[in-house]
Order: sequence, then C-alpha cells, then structure tokens
Amino acid sequence: MSGKNSEEIIKEWWNSASEYYQKEISADKMTDVQYGPFGSSEGKLKLLGKINGKTVLELGCGGGQVSISLAKKGAVCTGMDISNKQIEFANKNAKKERVNVEFLELPFSQINRLKPRKFDVIISIMALQYCTDLRVLLKNIRDLLSKDGIFVFSIEHPFYLLIDPKDMKIKESYFNSGLKVKKEKWPDKSIHYFAHYDMKISDIVNIIIDSGLKLERIIEPFDKEDKIWGIGYRRALVNRIAPTIIFKCRK
Ligand SMILES: C[S@@+](CC[C@H](N)C(=O)[O-])C[C@H]1O[C@@H](n2cnc3c(N)ncnc32)[C@H](O)[C@@H]1O
Repeated sequence: MSGKNSEEIIKEWWNSASEYYQKEISADKMTDVQYGPFGSSEGKLKLLGKINGKTVLELGCGGGQVSISLAKKGAVCTGMDISNKQIEFANKNAKKERVNVEFLELPFSQINRLKPRKFDVIISIMALQYCTDLRVLLKNIRDLLSKDGIFVFSIEHPFYLLIDPKDMKIKESYFNSGLKVKKEKWPDKSIHYFAHYDMKISDIVNIIIDSGLKLERIIEPFDKEDKIWGIGYRRALVNRIAPTIIFKCRK
C-alpha cells in the first residue's frame, strides 16, 4: 500500500473485488435504477423525471446496470468508473442486454476531460463515498449539467456506518470523518486495503450549497422488500436505520 494515493488504493480494491461484486448483483438491476441496499428504485421514487431522449452521465457506474436500465428507457447514457475490471463488466452487460452505452475508464478526479459536453441528468449510485475531493467534483458536475439539469446521488447513510451490526452499539465518533483505510484478509488469504471517506451530513449538504447546485430533496428510503441488494445485512439494524441516503439536486 505504501506510496499509493487513496485513488490508487480504491482502484486496486475495486479491480480485485469486481468479479465477486458483479456475481452478487442480480440481473434485475438492469431493468430499473436501484438506489442502494433497501434504498428503493427509480420506479417507486421517481426522482429523475421523464428520461426518454435525455443525456445521462453516471459516475462510478460499476457493471453499468444503472446506465443500461436508463438506456432501455430511451436515455443516451455515458458511464464512467475508475476500475478497468468494472468497465469490462459494463461493456459485457450492455452487449448482453443489446443497448448502446458509452463506458469510460475515468476517475472522478479527471471528470474535467468530459467538458464541454453537457448532460441533462448526472447520477451516481453508492460511489461518491470513494471520491477524494467531493468539493471539486460537485463544481465540475455543475459545469457539466445543462440548464435545470438534475443531479441525483446515493451513498451509504453516515448514521448507519456508525453502528456495529454485531452488538448494535455505536462503534466510532460521528465527528471522526475523512479517509478511512481498512486492511482486509480475504478467504484466499490475500491482503487488500479498502478505503472510503466518511462524511457528516453537514459536510455533504454544505458542499452541495457551496457548489452552486440547489438541493431539492434528501431521501432516507427504506424498501423493506429489497431482494436485490439487501442480502447480507443484519435485519435488526436495517429495521432501525436503513443503509442508503439519497440527495437530489438541480442546476
Ligand atoms: C459500490 S460500487 C457501485 C457501482 C454501481 N454504481 C452500482 O450501482 O452497482 C462503487 C463504484 O465506484 C467506483 N469508484 C470508486 N472510486 C472511483 C473514482 N475515484 N472514480 C470513478 N469511479 C470510482 C468503483 O470502481 C465502483 O465501481
């Protein structure tokens, strides 16, 4: 790990985890946007409006399921992800589902390379907790959005991350935000480093306000029936605090 910056550590982890992550994801994710574990779907929440004919940019697209589901509804989609392995899956999935989506191997830190293109909708599902500089990213997102464009993103709920599912106790301070790196030993005994950023709700909301985007809604969904993403979660905890939070912004 030594000598690597956080973006390189995150890319390495996602390249290693990609195959497992994609196996865990049901094909059902390719028919509707799933906002996260117990996070409900676009079909139920209707945050994006009419999508037919809209240009969409997806940040941290993984296996491309969100872009593919929106392309099926007539959107013109571009997905970007730092992991070349995830992008390989995304291209395979689009081919299998017979839709055209442009997938780019591109980190958030280089989103500038998409300028001067404009997008009607920018969406990110469970990916911005890996962003090294959310403040810079959101300013770039504002520039890339067309007039009245929509930016919707979901991340892990900051309160959910504080609770230890084993004993339901608070495991760390809410105020201890920033980069967290955890050493993991996988079943094959290989060692991996998982990195992400913990953010307070006020950090996120203030970054949105400072970017010049308008915050329209915060949604704390709890779709009890989640059979797609909700596997492996401790039900007793999820029933009290759900793992997904969604922010809807507009230019
Ligand atoms: C939890 S996955 C979510 C994938 C997808 N949005 C989904 O709904 O399944 C997070 C994704 O963010 C990507 N990611 C992490 N850091 C990134 C960065 N700096 N730039 C672009 N993508 C990044 C990872 O490679 C991974 O595919």
